[in-house]
This record gives sequence, C-alpha cells and structure tokens, in this order.
Amino acid sequence: MIIGILKEESPENRVALLPESVATLTKMLVTVLVEKDAGLRAFAADADYEAAGAKIASRAELIAQSDMLIKVNPPSDDELAQIREKTVFLAVLNPFFNTGLIKTLAQKNITAFSLDVIPRTSRAQSMDILSSMATVSGYKAVLTAANALPKFFPMFMTAAGTITPAKVLILGAGVAGLQALATSRKLGAVVEVFDVRAAVKEEVVGLGGKFVEVEGAIDDKAAGGYAVEQTDEFKRKQAAAVHDHAIKSDVIICTAQIPGKKAPLLLKRETVEAMKPGSVIIDLAASTGGNCEVTRNDETLVYRGVKIIGNSSFPVDMPSDASKMFGKNVINFLKLMISAKGEFNLNWDDDIVKGTCVTHNHEIVHERVKAMINV
Ligand code: NAI
Repeated sequence: MIIGILKEESPENRVALLPESVATLTKMLVTVLVEKDAGLRAFAADADYEAAGAKIASRAELIAQSDMLIKVNPPSDDELAQIREKTVFLAVLNPFFNTGLIKTLAQKNITAFSLDVIPRTSRAQSMDILSSMATVSGYKAVLTAANALPKFFPMFMTAAGTITPAKVLILGAGVAGLQALATSRKLGAVVEVFDVRAAVKEEVVGLGGKFVEVEGAIDDKAAGGYAVEQTDEFKRKQAAAVHDHAIKSDVIICTAQIPGKKAPLLLKRETVEAMKPGSVIIDLAASTGGNCEVTRNDETLVYRGVKIIGNSSFPVDMPSDASKMFGKNVINFLKLMISAKGEFNLNWDDDIVKGTCVTHNHEIVHERVKAMINV
C-alpha cells in the first residue's frame, strides 16, 4: 500500500505526518511518499523524511501513485481535480460546514475519512485530533492573552506595592477550556469557568478554577459528551450571569462550541461595552460565528478599549507539536485499517472506521452528515 502526504497551502504551517510518524508507517510495511517541502514550515526537511524511509515526490506523482492521501486540511480544487477514483482521502474535512466538498467527493467516488468526526469513545481517544488541537488552542489562547494584557497575570508583592492577580473567565470547559484553565493557573491568574455541562464542575475545581453555575441547563447524555442547544430562558439567565462575571474580568477566553452548529452567543455587545478598558477577549469559536457578538474571525480589533482576538487556528502557530500530535492521532487511526502485511483493510464492522468515513462508493455514508446535506 502507498500512502502520500500532501503539502498544505499557506497560511497552514502544520504537516499531517512528521518524519517520526512516517518511520512508524514504514515499519508497518507501508510505502510512504511525501510531497516535496511538505514539512518545511513544521521544521521537518525532506532529508528527515528520507531518513525515516519515505520517498520525496512531486504533487502530481504522489497523487497518481498513492492509494491513500493524507492532509491536515480539505483538498484544494487543484488536488480535487487530480485525485483518482477510489483513492482514500484522510483529512479534517469539517463536513457539516463543507457540504459542497462532501458532495463532490462522493460524486468523484473518493473514500473520504474526516478526522474531526471520529466518535468520542474511550477507544478513540488516542485518535482524537480535535482534542489534540484544542489542547494547543487553549494553551496558546492564554499565552496570547497574557501578551496582550497591559497587566501581570500573577500576584506580586513588590517594593513598589502589591500587584493583584489577573481575573480570567473561561466560557466552555471542554478540552480547550480546561487547558486554558490549567495554563492560566500556572501563570498565577484567578480563574472562573462557565459550562452548560454540570459534569465538568469536578474537573474545573480540580484544576483550581471556580465553576460558575447557572441553573436549568439542558445536559443531554445522549449527545455523546457534547453540549446541546439551550432554551431561550436559560440563554437569558446565562447572559445575565456571564455579564456580571465578565465586567469584573481582565481576560475572557471563549471556547464554547456545539458540533455542526453555529457557536452559542454568550458575550453580548453591551457586556463588552461594560468591560474594563484594557481587557482582552480571545474567541476560539470565531470560525463558527464566535461566542462574542463583536468578534470578527481572523481579526484583532479594539472595541471601546477591549481587545478582541478572533482566532480559531492557533495550532497553525505551533506547527511542531501540533503536527506531532496530529500525526500520532493519524497513526493510531491507521492501525485500524492496515493489515500486518501493510495492505489496506477497510473494516466496516469497526465503529471508529465506520463512524469516521463520510463518502464511499459514490455515496455519503455518514448518517449525521447525510441528514444535514439532505435537509
Ligand atoms: P466542544 O469544543 O464541542 O465545546 C467546548 C465546550 O463548550 C464544551 O465543554 C461545551 O459543553 C461548552 N458549551 C457549549 N455550549 C455552551 C454554552 N451555551 N454555554 C457554556 N458552555 C457551552 O467540546 P470538546 O472540547 O470537543 O469536548 C466536549 C466533551 O467531549 C469533553 O468534555 C468530553 O466529555 C468529550 N470528549 C470525549 C473524547 C473521547 O472520549 N474520545 C475526546 C474529547 C472530548
């Protein structure tokens, strides 16, 4: 079996597999082709890939020869035009938002796996790229906030007087939110956290945060650990509670998401207007609409003295470790579909393989994606 690693387009700096992950694949008897300079922006040279057992190829050669193509981002139009029928394509396809792409992949008879829809089960934890990238984002969000804040994060008792610690409010205690909490605490901030899932309270407290509860949240156990849309009454109560805590905060890190849907709006314009000048908001949900009403995706703006950074792509700024984690997750996933002889072995009885596949045999095979496209 031949696996090809494609080079990403700028501004993406990550690469799907670093040489260390390629070495694991070659040990699994797979032939690996890597597009020329694919790893450069993640600090991996072609020579490092060759030392790990890969061959360097042009994009055209790689697409023509590979049985499976792996990328971080969805295929470009140029790649789509070249990919052969029945090729297996593995990437983060964001299928709930990229419905046109999913239809094209089905029409072209490409077997596409979208790593962002991997089932959230214990067995799939080592393959969960969303968790890996959320870890990077939560960490980077706090460092970015600390850099932008005109104050210290920790408390200091100095000869020039006492510096009080920064107050950080985190909206959403998923993987990114918990990492943001841990990083903020390491920097000495006082941290409050909101989430609709009461189950995370223990983790928040364990990491040294204060969990702010708003009664009446719908916490749907059937949603696989994810949040669900809330009632209008709850949204009103939550907005009031967020307002009260936000106006006392120096930093707000927004991480709340609802899979496949627009992000919940938690921070209203009037709340931002009431915040202290010099405060900083980092909105990790910017690409799906943002948790803050003032956020603009991929932009930094100052609104009434509050700096608002809309950034859902922090992993791009940490390409070494982000690529390392991504590659490890991919290898763990590939182990489910590569035989001991290095051959491709698609096992539809495996819930993780089945649950991650979006198109196969000219059809959209992922139930939730299919339901959304047929709406
Ligand atoms: P996410 O990125 O989908 O959402 C981030 C957080 O925002 C979640 O904690 C969610 O409850 C919260 N949120 C959504 N709407 C909100 C609202 N209106 N107000 C306040 N908070 C709101 O979540 P993420 O980080 O992808 O993970 C969610 C959960 O999935 C985890 O805590 C865990 O239980 C589960 N999970 C399971 C994995 C596995 O077993 N393989 C791997 C990773 C996560």
